[in-house]
Amino acid sequence: MFKSSKQRILILAPHTDDGELGCGGAINKFIEEGHEVYYAAFSACEISVPKHLPSNILIEEVKKATDPIYQKISKVLPEIEWSVHAPYIHRINQLKKEKNAIILAHNYQTPEIYHGIADVAADSLALAIEASKTEANIIVMAGVHFMAETSKLMSPEKKVLLPDMAAGCSLSSSITGKDVRLLKEKYPGVPVVSYVNTSADVKAETDICCTSANAVKIVNSLGVKKVIFLPDDYLAKYVASQTDVEIIAWKGICIVHDQFNEKEIHDIRKNNPGIKIIAHPECPPDVIKASDFAGSTGGMIKYVKDNQPKKVMMVTECSMSDNIQVENPNVDFIKPCNMCPHMKKITLPKILDCLENETGEIIMDKETIEKARISVEKMAAIGR
Ligand code: 13P
Ligand code: SF4
Repeated sequence: MFKSSKQRILILAPHTDDGELGCGGAINKFIEEGHEVYYAAFSACEISVPKHLPSNILIEEVKKATDPIYQKISKVLPEIEWSVHAPYIHRINQLKKEKNAIILAHNYQTPEIYHGIADVAADSLALAIEASKTEANIIVMAGVHFMAETSKLMSPEKKVLLPDMAAGCSLSSSITGKDVRLLKEKYPGVPVVSYVNTSADVKAETDICCTSANAVKIVNSLGVKKVIFLPDDYLAKYVASQTDVEIIAWKGICIVHDQFNEKEIHDIRKNNPGIKIIAHPECPPDVIKASDFAGSTGGMIKYVKDNQPKKVMMVTECSMSDNIQVENPNVDFIKPCNMCPHMKKITLPKILDCLENETGEIIMDKETIEKARISVEKMAAIGR
């Protein structure tokens, strides 16, 4: 697994009776291979409060507040990991109340965020709508940069925070506002439909936004023969397969969904008779064709909830299956593991830091907000 390149590795392990890390051999091996290794020892499965949290936090208090959450998710999260997360979860939940803050989390966040601290965990359409309705003073986006910007567009008067400004998106970074202006010059009069996975500059040049939950509906709603649809080439192909409207696409891809391939889907099906395979429309077209259903992350969750398949594979980011397993204990999940490196930049310590110090604020000029929010509001009015 670590053969080809040097890695930065964090080892969390219980300590032995004499206080040593209980996995010394593994550490030495990684160091010899030239990896950068960090490690921490824990009293097996016991909660301890990290040094930089307030010293008056009592372990008993943390346990009382967080044990009910852990009961829910123990199937998908080892107890030793929980002992690290619990103090952060407790402190973040305290701070949310003190500051009248809300945490909006995307479905790709890890279980400790999704189940531990999120006030709303959902797909990007629902998060955008939620941001427009909240009465909180502060919105913390446990997601990526374009999602935080979309929240700001929907609630410009609110303080919107992103725990790591480097949490981007390969689709969003594939196109700029200038690219859209050039496309509009090339195809005068053709309306621009942009996926929400775009920057505010792109949204400012857009007629109407969409997400994977409503892309087909939005394109059809325009009543035109041709649209510019950007930036996801695969989503554009998916929409083209569901409508008569001619689609002019852009060559953006999602680095996570692009990794799935048709052979993998056929192999899984062959080895798991009766399995249901459900895919996100950011996947390559042959993967979607080989699947039983395609939909947004919210649509995929609904499919599992409504159909309760015996066995399912969600062809999307890793954490979705773990998150959903909790509410669907009778469903057997075959878990693919393509991780979104951007979504995974968001961690509990970073969320705590940003909430405590109110760092990572999304700042946009007034003109961009005014222009860009029209395209998001038009989308929200059409809905799912
Ligand atoms: P959803 O809109 O389906 O939640 O997806 C957002 C996303 O970034 C998927 O990769
Ligand atoms: Fe962007 Fe893909 Fe990550 Fe979603 S999964 S945030 S589309 S890179």
